[in-house]
Amino acid sequence: MKQVPIVILDFGSQYTQLIARRLRESGVYCEIYPYHESADSLKAKSPKGIILSGGPASVYDDNAYHPDSAIFDMGVPILGICYGMQLITQHFGGVVIPSENHEYGKAKLHFEEECVLFEDTPNDQIVWMSHADRVDMLPDGFVKVASSENSQYAAIMDGNRKVYALQFHPEVHHSEYGKDILKNFAIKLCGCEDSWNMGSFAKEQIAKIKERVGDKKVLCGVSGGVDSSVVAALLHEAIGDQLIPVFVDHGLLRANEREQVENMFKNRLHAELITVDASEEFLAKLKGVSDPEQKRKIIGETFITVFEREAKKFDDISFLAQGTLYTDVIESVSVKGPSKTIKSHHNVGGLPDWMEFELIEPLREIFKDEVRKLGLELGLPEEMINRHPFPGPGLAIRIMGEVNAADLEMLRAADTIMIEELKSHDYYNKVWQAFCVLLNVKSVGVMGDNRTYENTVCVRMVESVDGMTATFAHIPHELLDTISNRIINEVEGINRVVYDITSKPPGTIEWE
Ligand code: XMP
Repeated sequence: MKQVPIVILDFGSQYTQLIARRLRESGVYCEIYPYHESADSLKAKSPKGIILSGGPASVYDDNAYHPDSAIFDMGVPILGICYGMQLITQHFGGVVIPSENHEYGKAKLHFEEECVLFEDTPNDQIVWMSHADRVDMLPDGFVKVASSENSQYAAIMDGNRKVYALQFHPEVHHSEYGKDILKNFAIKLCGCEDSWNMGSFAKEQIAKIKERVGDKKVLCGVSGGVDSSVVAALLHEAIGDQLIPVFVDHGLLRANEREQVENMFKNRLHAELITVDASEEFLAKLKGVSDPEQKRKIIGETFITVFEREAKKFDDISFLAQGTLYTDVIESVSVKGPSKTIKSHHNVGGLPDWMEFELIEPLREIFKDEVRKLGLELGLPEEMINRHPFPGPGLAIRIMGEVNAADLEMLRAADTIMIEELKSHDYYNKVWQAFCVLLNVKSVGVMGDNRTYENTVCVRMVESVDGMTATFAHIPHELLDTISNRIINEVEGINRVVYDITSKPPGTIEWE
């Protein structure tokens, strides 16, 4: 069995996968397992260290998640993060209490004890807290490493037993030296190597795909976006002509998208792309539906109906490959542990029970920016790699309420103008994602001495690294002005443009 240098046990935090990616960024290979994975099963992977993630529960809840307690006797260093810290405290005999002051956001550390975790990081550092319970009394053998204003115990350790715990989240971007802290744990405390990279990931995935698929065929749903293109490229490397790439035009695409995708596959990937025009079918099914989750489910199901129909035209297709990313997974369903559903991303929560395909999702555990690195590794063109993300359900989740052909036209026209202006002002590559949303809100305006009563478009532009968190982009007002003027003057039916100034959290990037 393959050795897994660092094992991460997932207690349901939205950030568990970020722990893994921070370690990957430092070249350390790691895998995530559900919190209840047995110590025997973990021992078989010969880990050099174990990380216990955060989680939404309280250690004192009746149904709190507890790991197999034998993991504490495995003799390898253990790091607990937030909920993981509380588990460690409880296990070794300390006291955790609910805190009156929920600590949420940035905090400054005050160091009291030297600790290898913080080696080569400054004394003055900001970390990101998000917790209700806190440690009130340390277990025997533990010492306080650092405190913060609201947490007496922000970092603790028992150097003899090699058990370390942090109240804050080193894995999120706002913890300034979080990546160094995790790296110190893996390399200095556990003795891991730092030689893993995206090239290793590509090789591992290609080998896995080959082994799983054998001589069968794989239908790969492509959208022209970076995720599905990278999946198609991986599959092409692994199984060559056994790959059947299918592009479904669901009628919810942006302007000219279909032609762009067809050209890209033909000219750059040299793969025989099958295009299916299913726009009428999708629009008919969406008629009269305004609930966001229902829209997402219908789209997910219709995709599968179309894919299954296409697959019947070939022998031996039992697999469906998709460019599902971790962001899609974590917000849709519980992955390895018990996390909460935010929305059903079409290629995860939107899949119907009756689907007969087996899924191949090589990107399921990685993030957008990592996919881009992987794409470059596989030799995909920059213009493909740098395209803004576009969700599988397309414009349907950017039209509030019921979707119809006229609104789609209006949104497409507004979106095209916005993208044109971003590109001509050299801003397209400076923002992570930009799009228009058609609000189901009419307002009064005045144009050429006449009263108007028309639709509102919202322009959404965000900065992000991985889509898990985002801030609205601070773009120049002059550019917003140009976009607004052009949309109102050129798109019939729109008389007002607004700019979305919500970050994620508390918002999500898409409106539905
Ligand atoms: P949210 O709206 O959840 O979006 O903050 C995070 C990122 O994911 C994209 N997104 C999707 N991608 N299928 C996809 O392939 C989906 O159903 C889906 N929903 C959201 C979104 O555009 C953003 O980049």
